[in-house]
Amino acid sequence: MPRPWWEDAVFYQIYPRSFRDSNGDGIGDLAGITEKLDYLAWLGVDALWISPFFPSPMKDFGYDVADYRGVDPMFGSLDDFERLAAGAKARGIRIVLDLVANHSSDQHPWFVEARSSRLSPKHSWYLWTQDTGKPPNNWKAIFELGSAWFPNPATGERYLGTFTRWQPEFDWRNPEVRRAFYDIMRFWYGLGVDGFRLDVATAYLKDARLRSNPFSWRANPDFFQKHLYDRNQPGVHEIFAEMRKVADEAPGVGRRPSLPGERVLIGETHGQDAELAASCHGKRADELHMAFNFDFLNQRWKAKAFKTSAERWYSLMPIGAWPNFTLSNHDRPRHIWRYRARDPETTESRAKVAAAMLLTLRGTPFLYYGEEIGMGCFRLPRKALRDPLGVKTWPLGYLGRDSERTPMQWDSTPGAGFGSEEPWLPLNPDWRERSASAQRGRSSSLLEWYRALIALRRAVPALRGGSLRWTPASRDVLAFERADEAAGERVAVFLNFASRAGHAALAEEAAVLLGSARKEGRALAAGDCALGPNEVLIARLKPPLKPRPEPRQL
Ligand code: GLC
Ligand code: CA
Repeated sequence: MPRPWWEDAVFYQIYPRSFRDSNGDGIGDLAGITEKLDYLAWLGVDALWISPFFPSPMKDFGYDVADYRGVDPMFGSLDDFERLAAGAKARGIRIVLDLVANHSSDQHPWFVEARSSRLSPKHSWYLWTQDTGKPPNNWKAIFELGSAWFPNPATGERYLGTFTRWQPEFDWRNPEVRRAFYDIMRFWYGLGVDGFRLDVATAYLKDARLRSNPFSWRANPDFFQKHLYDRNQPGVHEIFAEMRKVADEAPGVGRRPSLPGERVLIGETHGQDAELAASCHGKRADELHMAFNFDFLNQRWKAKAFKTSAERWYSLMPIGAWPNFTLSNHDRPRHIWRYRARDPETTESRAKVAAAMLLTLRGTPFLYYGEEIGMGCFRLPRKALRDPLGVKTWPLGYLGRDSERTPMQWDSTPGAGFGSEEPWLPLNPDWRERSASAQRGRSSSLLEWYRALIALRRAVPALRGGSLRWTPASRDVLAFERADEAAGERVAVFLNFASRAGHAALAEEAAVLLGSARKEGRALAAGDCALGPNEVLIARLKPPLKPRPEPRQL
């Protein structure tokens, strides 16, 4: 069976408010993404995950949806979406949407109706409890730092909101809710969408008896609670299996019947628990195609840490499931900032090591817009903060989430080529030096490095589907071999995480495919290989000599 496309794909996450503003109102939009499709094709990415652009009061910047089948006028129209989809398709780029199905906006007509009366047909679509003057349990609203139960005087009840009070939670035990969402998925599949990223998918179900969570020592992000009851309910697997069926049965692109795996479901699942996350693929790999693996977001800058993390993730994969890796997204400070060193050169070299790791490991890589040019994070002035979590936790919060959402830095013209001189979030102060146009064509730049890695991954099957075997190396070096037995191709990857020399072992003679310090094509002798500080070396191993056929006897 051919490999499904998403196993071979490099994904690129776009936070649409911040990518490109086509009409100068300060907010990125769909037409802006369309304008940048040539750049994305040039970079070589295969699929876009676009954060929500649906109509929304923007209390959580689109993660509070008021209409699941439309486009917020701020981002454009459905026609703009169709133009974007067509443009992407013409360039062979797939599109994955962000489905926020755990909760809606409080302005969604469903909730407006639901909260008006206990007798309303939509009432049972959401979660309620009798308002006795205090919350029924200790569940917390993450972005409010308080109880997750909010009073609704019209019905004398409280509703649940695990994020903000503006994001009431659905009751996914209700079959009508399920049907409504499966129809929404079919609607977008019908428009040619290639799949969904499922927002907080493991929170869909809550304990039916609304029991309080037990105590935990973990403050961040757990609020001193073990989340036994407000998320992570086993029943969620049934929902995943249903969604999988809807995906597999959706009409195929170009009207032929869909092939299984043509549509992809990627769950935001269990940020902190790799084992629970891995279980979301289903025991027979018949649930989510991929459960986001967030473990790299929690690792220190140590070869050993990443190795242990990847090894664990591989070992947790059910048979038939496919791994994935990511280093940055719209909820966490960017990895170049997390792994910054004292001097900028080392920081840049680390970013190259990180990129090489992400793009050569066995598993689908997810990039976050701007990481390819090394956009960093910085502390925004208080009046510039927009993220509800950042505002609430200021000045204690590490950075809030605005600092990883600043406008993409396209060029060095005023406004960084984002499209407006007054973007919704301030530009990162380094925008003049660090932009896509300044790096494009400069062979030593991070942008060209990403492009070369992506091209290499595309050109060398062993780097995509090949097996992975860790190989011996000194302590700070992450070394592994990717092998495609069928193609007889083996690739050695050496990543030196330290700013001092390191060593790794080459099993055979090899030739450089891509290196941070060596030219492509250079020959390497078998045996010990000395690596420079923060060096990346990717090399094709010579196939072992086959015994020559005996000359035929006359
Ligand atoms: C997810 C999103 C995050 C959002 C939250 C509520 O964690 O990634 O950005 O705020 O869900 O929808
Ligand atoms: Ca705009």
